[in-house]
Amino acid sequence: MAEPLLELSAVTAGYGPTHVLRGIDLSLTKGERLAVIGRNGAGKTTLLATIMGLTRLHGGKVRLHGLEIGAMAPFRRNAAGLGLVPQTRDIFPSLSVEENLLSAMRGDASLDEAYTLFPRLKERRRNGGTQLSGGEQQMLAIARTLMTRPEVILLDEPLEGLAPVICEQLMAAFEELATDGTRAVVLVEQHVEAALSFATRAVLMSNGQIVFDGPATELRERPDLLHRHVGVGIET
Ligand SMILES: Nc1ncnc2c1ncn2[C@@H]1O[C@H](COP(=O)(O)OP(=O)(O)OP(=O)(O)O)[C@@H](O)[C@H]1O
Ligand SMILES: [Mg+2]
Repeated sequence: MAEPLLELSAVTAGYGPTHVLRGIDLSLTKGERLAVIGRNGAGKTTLLATIMGLTRLHGGKVRLHGLEIGAMAPFRRNAAGLGLVPQTRDIFPSLSVEENLLSAMRGDASLDEAYTLFPRLKERRRNGGTQLSGGEQQMLAIARTLMTRPEVILLDEPLEGLAPVICEQLMAAFEELATDGTRAVVLVEQHVEAALSFATRAVLMSNGQIVFDGPATELRERPDLLHRHVGVGIET
């Protein structure tokens, strides 16, 4: 098996004294496409935040390329190869699209890369952040993270509240990000169908724990689990 890129072992974490994640074991390798699903409050955002160093780690280990990063500051984790696209779609509203991208750029990243992935952003490059539609803001948030050259890209419910046609465009972009095999893509989604058709592997979270970790196709065949932990049916 390939050496893990990112590895969480027996991780317990939360906010202040509160424990939200309880005993998380998860490892990711290069080129992997992982879907993380679970109902509201299951701990999906907390899992991504813990990977980024934005929560309090109460116990366990987080390793990147085998190096323990449990005490590393969030900005350093970002420089080390972890990129988060937050559920809140953080962009600078007062800056133009291009300025937003330039402000995030690191190393040999190029604007072309962002514009090839999202031609819409090129058309809108002089527009301010506030002049963008919800879908365009999400594209920009993703492109900004991409400009930091992450080896692991963490997407927190990127399809939330967006029109089906925009969701399709975003899913096609995730496909692009995943196919060159240079990074791992982690997609947190409540759109179970979309997430499982993208991912090769799926993690199901419930109450701060991982209750399933295996091939996405296997989870599709477990409507009982999906029903119990996500509360939705799935067409297979
Ligand atoms: N900043 C915070 N301080 C204290 N508790 C928090 C904070 N953020 C989240 N929590 C709690 O942690 C638990 C998990 O929340 P989290 O945001 O990780 O869930 P989620 O799976 O991402 O849900 P959603 O699908 O609604 O985004 C919830 O009980 C929530 O109330
Ligand atoms: Mg969340």
